This record gives sequence, structure tokens and C-alpha cells, in this order.
Amino acid sequence: MEIEHVRSRFIKHFDGTTGSVYTSPGRINLIGEHTDYNGGFVFPGAIDKGIMAELKANGKQKVCAYSIGLKDYVEFGLNEEDAPRTSWARYLFGICREMIKRGVKVEGFNTAFSGDVPLGAGMSSSAALESAYAYALNDLFGNNQIDKFELAKTGQATEHHYIGVKCGIMDQFASVFGKKDNLIRLDCRSLEYQYFPFKPDGYRLVLIDSVVKHELASSAYNKRRQSCEAAVTAIQKNHPDIEFLRDANMDMLKEVKSGISPEDFKRAEYIIEEIQRVLDVCDALEQKDYERVGQKMYEAHHGMSKLYEVSCEELDFLNDCARKNHVTGSRVMGGGFGGCTINLVKNELYDAFVNEAVESFKHRFNRSPKIYDVIISDGAHKLI
Ligand code: GLA
Repeated sequence: MEIEHVRSRFIKHFDGTTGSVYTSPGRINLIGEHTDYNGGFVFPGAIDKGIMAELKANGKQKVCAYSIGLKDYVEFGLNEEDAPRTSWARYLFGICREMIKRGVKVEGFNTAFSGDVPLGAGMSSSAALESAYAYALNDLFGNNQIDKFELAKTGQATEHHYIGVKCGIMDQFASVFGKKDNLIRLDCRSLEYQYFPFKPDGYRLVLIDSVVKHELASSAYNKRRQSCEAAVTAIQKNHPDIEFLRDANMDMLKEVKSGISPEDFKRAEYIIEEIQRVLDVCDALEQKDYERVGQKMYEAHHGMSKLYEVSCEELDFLNDCARKNHVTGSRVMGGGFGGCTINLVKNELYDAFVNEAVESFKHRFNRSPKIYDVIISDGAHKLI
């Protein structure tokens, strides 16, 4: 994405002057899905696709915002009752409100933004948007008084309060804390994190987008969260110290098997296993044992498909295709219900796998999947 692309639109749509330009990325996640809101571990990294936004204070009490990609212009005020209807503008409004709640004296501004994170592909385009504006408003109106953790939480709170998705912290965290060539293991309970250099010699990461977007994704997501909470409530009767599924083990879960629904049991089983898989993958990476990393990715896919039930026919098909092509690891990435598989593949198998995935997917579903090579990149920052 070029700064000039955003700047020229900003100049055209407003008063001809320029402002400050910020950028914030989408993310991948090597392993650890739906573990964040269970107090567990995740293992994301920021990518070379994101949101770029230009902003300038306009001396009014309203935000004048232009989405370059959608060619759509919206104005809104900064009070709670001024919420815009347009969905993309609600993210900006939510960030303004959440920054105000955190003591930042947000005033009116003009802004134009553009993005190249594919929408609905599980690469967190919304966290990129939230983090770009949280970072920008903190710089423009807050003297950078809000620390990076709180910036990530601002984005998460926007999802909770203005979008209606009860998401965890992973996406916004990765978007703010990303570091070139590094994945980040985050403990979502303590928020302790550790960077892991990730340049697996002889391997590539490739995302294959099923281009499936499920309309019900946000309500199904919230429902998964409720299942986890129901399991925790049941376990707490025997083990009052348990706060999250992170604290529980399979024995504790089995004790309450007859007291919770079979569905909630499966969901919790997946989470307990997935949290452990993140730790296993980190160990394997330290030993450069990519075969083991890959095996854990396949296990994760199985869990997401059969226990957590956030995969779909197209993603299962792509996962099978990876296995048949001797891809080291493959699994559905992100919240699920559509979007991408993330694949760890040996360099020499890459071309054959990608060709085969595209051709066989076309044959089966009558449309093409999309292929994204990603580069692990830096988190939110100011460009000019
Ligand atoms: C979405 C949410 C995240 C996380 C993932 C699944 O991306 O925003 O908080 O729960 O799904 O790992």
C-alpha cells in the first residue's frame, strides 16, 4: 500500500491540506484459536497487509471520514448518541468513544483510510482498522498517554460495545505489538508475551482463502464463548479457584460431563487441548522441529472441525488437500466459519501444492480460492 494512494484521496476529499499518516497490520496466527477469551495462549504475528489512515484535526466536534476502498463518506459526532449506522464507520466511532472513556480528549478530525487485508478471511481486518485509529488518536489527541496494552484493549472494547463481537485480545494485540520476522506468544491472562523469531529455513507459510464468509459468524462466535463459560461454571462447583478453561484439565472437565451439554463438553475439550498445543508448538519451534509444529497444526484443525465446529466443508477440503500434498502443517486460521487455512509447506512442495489446491478446489466448488503469501511485519506505527 502506498502512502501516496491515501494522501491523494485525503487532499481531494478535504481542504487540500495534509495530516499525519498511520498504519496498522492484520495478523496470522500459527496456532491457538479461541484460546484468548479462555485465558490461554495464542501465537500470532502481524503481517504485511493492513490499514493506512491519514488524519487531521478539523477544529469541529465531528469526524469526517472517507473510506477509500468503499468510496463512502460518513460524518458523525463524538457523543454516545452520535453513533453512525454505516458498519465501517462504527469501528471508528467505537475507537473514538473508547479513547474518550480512557481520558483522551478526542476532538473532531478529517480522515481517509485504505486497507489491503482481505475482508472476512480471518486475517483481522477489523483489528487493523481499530488499532490504526487507536494508535492515531493517542498520538494526535492523547500525547501518547495510553500504553500499547490499553490501545489493544481499546480495539477489543470497540468490538464488545459497538460491534457486538465478544472477541478476545489476540487480534488487536498482534496488530499493536507485531514485530518483523517474529511471532508473539501471548499469555492472554497475564498479558505476558515473548517474541519468537520465525524464519523457518526451507519452509514457507501460505494462506489459502476459501472465500467463504458466514453471515452468522459473530453470533456463532459469541455462542462458542458461552459454551466455554458454561463449562467453567460447572467445573467451579468442584474447583472454585478455576477462573478460565486455561486453569482446567481434562480430568476436571470429565467430572462435570453429565452436568453440561455434550456440545459444551466438546467445546471445552478442544480449548483445553488447544492451549497445550500452543506451548508444544513453541517448544518444537525452539528445537526447529517443524514436523512437530505441522503435526500440531493438523491436530488443531481436527479439533476446530470436529469439536469446536468452526470449520466448513471448503476449509476441510483445503486441509485434506494439504495432507495429500505432504504439506507439513495446515489448519483453519482465525475465528473460523470461513476464511483461510494457514499452511506450513516445504519450499520444494510449494508450487505443486498451491496448483493442486487451486485446481481441485475449482473443480469441487466451481470457484477459485485465493492465495496469500504473508511476510511477518511490524505492528502499528506512524508513517509521516
Ligand atoms: C477472532 C477474535 C479473536 C480470537 C480468534 C480465534 O479473530 O477476534 O479474539 O478469538 O477469533 O482465535
